[in-house]
Amino acid sequence: MAEPRRIVVTAALPYANGKIHLGHLVEYLQVDFWTRFQKMRGHECLYICADDTHGTPIMVRARQEGRSPEDLIAQSLEEHQQDFHDFLIEFDHYGSTHSEENKTLVSEIFNTVKEKGHIRSKLIEQLYCEHDKMFLPDRFVKGTCPRCGSTEQYGDSCDKCSATYSPMELKDAQCSLCGTKPTIKSSEHLLFQLQHFQDFLKEWVPQHTQPEIARKMSEWLEQDLREWDISRDEPYFGFKIPGYDDKYFYVWVDAPVGYISSTWQWCQKKGKKLEDYWQHKKAEIFHCIGKDIVYFHALFWPALLSESRFKTPSAIWVHGMLTINGEKMSKSKGTFISARTYLNHLSPEHLRYYYACKLSSSIDDLDLNLEDFTQRVNSDLIGKITNLGSRGAQLLSKKMDGVLGTPSAEGLDLIRYAQKQSETIAAHYEARDFSKAINEIRAIADKANKYFDEKAPWKTLESHPQETKEIISTILNIFRILSIYLKPILPHYVSRVEKLFGESNYSWYHVAQTLENVRLNEYEHLSSRIDPVKVKAILEETKKT
Ligand code: MSP
Ligand code: ZN
Repeated sequence: MAEPRRIVVTAALPYANGKIHLGHLVEYLQVDFWTRFQKMRGHECLYICADDTHGTPIMVRARQEGRSPEDLIAQSLEEHQQDFHDFLIEFDHYGSTHSEENKTLVSEIFNTVKEKGHIRSKLIEQLYCEHDKMFLPDRFVKGTCPRCGSTEQYGDSCDKCSATYSPMELKDAQCSLCGTKPTIKSSEHLLFQLQHFQDFLKEWVPQHTQPEIARKMSEWLEQDLREWDISRDEPYFGFKIPGYDDKYFYVWVDAPVGYISSTWQWCQKKGKKLEDYWQHKKAEIFHCIGKDIVYFHALFWPALLSESRFKTPSAIWVHGMLTINGEKMSKSKGTFISARTYLNHLSPEHLRYYYACKLSSSIDDLDLNLEDFTQRVNSDLIGKITNLGSRGAQLLSKKMDGVLGTPSAEGLDLIRYAQKQSETIAAHYEARDFSKAINEIRAIADKANKYFDEKAPWKTLESHPQETKEIISTILNIFRILSIYLKPILPHYVSRVEKLFGESNYSWYHVAQTLENVRLNEYEHLSSRIDPVKVKAILEETKKT
């Protein structure tokens, strides 16, 4: 085996302000598949995440609910962690951007870029609500689109005609919280000079993003980059900017720093050094994100990092958005399915399997078609894969002595074929082409099923016990190999397979073995078919909440 890699992988930090839904899980699950796979291959691979806790929406909601933002984010943190846990997502560390470590690092990075001359200050005019005593971010202003005249549009863009504009141009502007007409007020802001990094980014972006993203970004990079407003006025929930009494870092400054501070917390927990993960030349750092937040990760973040003591990421992995039955998730259509609602009715491993079937490294959107979901799980995972194990184990344990025999030459050929796919499947996992990995796994299962049906060992138990055992032992060995290949996706399922064979902790290299003369343990139920009634129940519960 090659020398172990040292890898840090992050998923974007979910807003503390919202519930985890099936769209988020496209991201958190794929990183879980990948990091579990790397661990099985013997690499050091950390899965790091945290709640993204700062910003105006949290502050406003806390105010409305008459509680402190700290109280609110503590509750979200607990709920998010419970949801992730129940979806079998295993972080090495799950932190919060509202931490001492994060505050320290944000100040450090800010001070560095400031000393290097990348910050300037400027008076900026903004809409202000005298009633709520706050500047109004774009999303907190409503009015009439200056271009097409549609009412009830946000301060930054029009839903109807897609015009973008500044909130000052909006007609009949209102504070969306209290309905008051905002005034215009000016205040001093700090601006990060992103344009200083134009040449650096022109080179960096294409080397560290997928080709589709690089192409899109090159349009931005051909034009002059604009300075980026990194400060917000009181009241705000966030970190104060060093040297200012009433200014806070914009949430998008401290959020990505959360990747580092959360790793730092992990290091403290484990007695490791942060430098070994974020500065060491051997360390690899990957950020997995949705295509809606590319701008922050591919421009601001590498620019900030390039001036800090930390490494810029090895790559940014961008994925597409989830659609349900071909349409955007929608509250009114009842398809805004929360992680919890799903879990109230179905197994996390069913969704894990389905997402794996659909995921690739492209930025295309991914569709959860609920009929296809039911069918894929029932016909492939249950009908093709699980059946090999359940029928094989039951024949061997109930109708024979329960001890695996030696496969015949023909059986061994089949086992060797299954073992030989190991590096092909590993390469698909490595490339995040999970759907291709599943296709290979399914192809092995198809061959095994064909063999099983042709040999029909249940008919020859009495007439040819020796051959019968050879066949069943072949089937069970293949089932075991398939399970090892599926372990990153179905960790609980496969832990029961390990028990069945009296093994534990499968690594990728366990596929090379063939089991003989091993007594099976009791077969524990692995997975059930999806009852379409439960899928309906998910939609109904979603509509109600
Ligand atoms: N808080 C920011 C990220 C800060 S990272 C320093 C944020 N949070 S989020 O909760 O809105 O989204 C978290 C991740 O989930 C993002 O990468 C986002 O693209 C992804 N998804 C959110 N909705 C999604 C879908 N409907 N489909 C696929 N991914 C989705 O952005
Ligand atoms: Zn107001």
